[in-house]
Amino acid sequence: MAEQNTNPDAASASQEEINAEISAIGSAYRRDVEQTGEEEASARLSYPPYRSSLLRSPTKSLHHADPEEIELHSPAFGERDVHILESDLTIQHGGEPIGERIVVTGRILDGDGRPIRHQLVEVWQANAAGRYVHKRDQHPAPLDPNFTGVGRAITGPNGEYSFTTIKPAPYPWKNHYNAWRPAHIHFSLFGTDFTQRLITQMYFPGDPLFDLDPIYQSITDQKARDRLVATYDHSVAGHEWNTGYRWDIVLSGSNRTWFESDAARDEEH
Ligand SMILES: [Fe+2]
Repeated sequence: MAEQNTNPDAASASQEEINAEISAIGSAYRRDVEQTGEEEASARLSYPPYRSSLLRSPTKSLHHADPEEIELHSPAFGERDVHILESDLTIQHGGEPIGERIVVTGRILDGDGRPIRHQLVEVWQANAAGRYVHKRDQHPAPLDPNFTGVGRAITGPNGEYSFTTIKPAPYPWKNHYNAWRPAHIHFSLFGTDFTQRLITQMYFPGDPLFDLDPIYQSITDQKARDRLVATYDHSVAGHEWNTGYRWDIVLSGSNRTWFESDAARDEEH
């Protein structure tokens, strides 16, 4: 196994060093699966190629909160709180945002394939230049005055959601030298209770940065990684208006979508 640099500030590591670490962990994982048959369905919270995960991942067992107590104080969201136009990220300002207009649609299902209705779905993303509207995102790519990059929707009777937005671009981050994240859209789901909030990321098919990205690769199982990648669906495209992607989210069971744990979440990336 390649020697791992565990200094979380080691932004000087090269992509080649990161690749070697990712490759060694992936090979070890595949050997383990061959021997034990046990597949990992979720991300590793402490994943050395993803430098800051080492400090942010929990070192002690999680504290169990009383969900009923939390529900007394937590906000609740319902259909009355979300306007139907909030799912169109291209109409929030005075003009059209720059970029490829896309519709992302899909269904939210439980482990038995039943639709999750009336679910609050929130998204946030970078713009077509890979820039977030966020004070910590200062890399030299342009902001778009017509694009904020946040939206939300409530799922319909069949668990369906749909967002109209702009295809985000990859963007650099400080994990290592010349580190770039594959293009992605962040998703947050609120269940029926505040304590059920789940956060994950959707990726676009065929992104050449997949193999290089320690966040995507922190899910060691290829099948679990694949579940985070949308499929291009031309039936979702709109004539002279948008291309289309389909992405279903499964909340539980062996085909469940991978979610970031609250402890390891870093909404900057
Ligand atoms: Fe991001």
